Amino acid sequence: MLRKLVFLAVVGVFLVDATCDTTIFVACQDKFADKLGIDRYAFCYSRLNPLGLTLQIQDIYINGGVAAERGLNVVCNAYNSMVQCLSDASTTTFECFDMGYLLTHSSAPNQAYSYGFLMSMLQYQCGAGFYLASDNWQCMQRIYNGKNATMYGCITDFVLNAQEDPKRGCNYVQTGMDCFSKASTLQGCPDELKYYGCESFRQYSLPQFARCDKQCTIDTQYRGI
Ligand SMILES: *[C@@H]1O[C@H](CO)[C@@H](O)[C@H](O)[C@H]1NC(C)=O
Repeated sequence: MLRKLVFLAVVGVFLVDATCDTTIFVACQDKFADKLGIDRYAFCYSRLNPLGLTLQIQDIYINGGVAAERGLNVVCNAYNSMVQCLSDASTTTFECFDMGYLLTHSSAPNQAYSYGFLMSMLQYQCGAGFYLASDNWQCMQRIYNGKNATMYGCITDFVLNAQEDPKRGCNYVQTGMDCFSKASTLQGCPDELKYYGCESFRQYSLPQFARCDKQCTIDTQYRGI
């Protein structure tokens, strides 16, 4: 009995520790906005405009940072500072991006999901996907520039459709992956960027649709010297 109580107490403490601290979260969000060089109040999660933030990030990818730094560097440095800020505060970092937390702290599920989706995509683009884009950044920047509206359309269609008709969610995930993959092609640019586009979108959808278990295929030709 005593052992059980001690066990429960330990689990209880763990659960309390593992919750996102909203005040710290907001402060780290502000840090993210500042590093991106965007208006804290217009784009932060606290202001509930994740789709606006998504566009703002595409804009930085296209046009670079305030001092004309490479867009990918600006976004990933800002994202990493936010993650660092959360972990410095000994909040379990990714608890703040957890859908359970976001849904109970948002006024609308759409807002919570599109924020969680964006953070999941950034985690990929600034993590496992970083070098694929970084090594081909001139191409990727031109793709974002030429396909800005198309890519934003892939995202807004998905967010709307998935919320209206979640039963068909996995179809919408596939549609979005195809949409991003198709958008990520450009004459003279490597086929791997199609994979980067597809995988970016797959990661975007994961917070709500991990169960769909979709795959992005790599269909590049060997182009060795
Ligand atoms: C990207 O597309 C969106 C939606 O069409 C538009 O509002 C925005 O101004 C565009 N951004 C750039 C940098 O072209």
